[in-house]
Amino acid sequence: MPVVDQLQRRAVTSVFRAVAMLPVAVGLVLAVSAAGRAAFQEASAPPAKAARAPDVVYVPTPHDVVDKMLEMARVKKEDVVYDLGCGDGRIVVAAAKKGAKAIGYDLSRERVEEARANVKKNKVEKLAEIFEKDIFTLDLSEANVITLYLLPKLNVKLIPQLEKLKPGSRIVSHDFDMKGVQPDRMVHMTSQEDGESHTIYLWTVPLKKEPGHEPTGQQ
Ligand SMILES: C[S@@+](CC[C@H](N)C(=O)[O-])C[C@H]1O[C@@H](n2cnc3c(N)ncnc32)[C@H](O)[C@@H]1O
Repeated sequence: MPVVDQLQRRAVTSVFRAVAMLPVAVGLVLAVSAAGRAAFQEASAPPAKAARAPDVVYVPTPHDVVDKMLEMARVKKEDVVYDLGCGDGRIVVAAAKKGAKAIGYDLSRERVEEARANVKKNKVEKLAEIFEKDIFTLDLSEANVITLYLLPKLNVKLIPQLEKLKPGSRIVSHDFDMKGVQPDRMVHMTSQEDGESHTIYLWTVPLKKEPGHEPTGQQ
């Protein structure tokens, strides 16, 4: 990838992560910066023929962070992995390469096409599929591993769906927690790909609600 593209991608990644970790008001201030505008345009403008705009912009998880997420979720060939908001399909491809059945969902037509091409390029069509669907409409009962790189409030909004997963199912999230639900594990790592620090959260079903906090999925 040309250096300029790499730098642009890193700038967008930084804005995405910074905005997501700050309160909404601060996020709005950041969003009016030049890079912020670029990063948020995709999320506010519905792509052609899509049912609606995605809830969060596309930022890929570095490949070494993907590997760590799948390791933490103990993905093996008996598993069914769903990546909710699959972007270019890299998590789906990596899970299928471990022999798992892997399904990616995204609302962006462009990402869905990119992910399907990635599945084909990596010759994992027998195990991997990509669908253009809103993740908040999905029945997750067939999955036993869920991967996320969304936003904290979107993770919380998913709780009612995640609570219906089979006992023992694993959920891993890149960088963002799930308010009100206690993670089993939290790992910090520096990616060799982007030189940045990343956090990965692991939860196991049934979800452990934090004392005094009853998540409703409505936040
Ligand atoms: C930050 S990217 C993560 C991509 C990929 N999971 C990864 O980690 O590399 C979030 C993705 O979620 C998609 N997305 C956002 N809201 C969605 C929704 N409601 N339903 C399906 N996909 C959505 C975006 O289009 C984007 O590709």
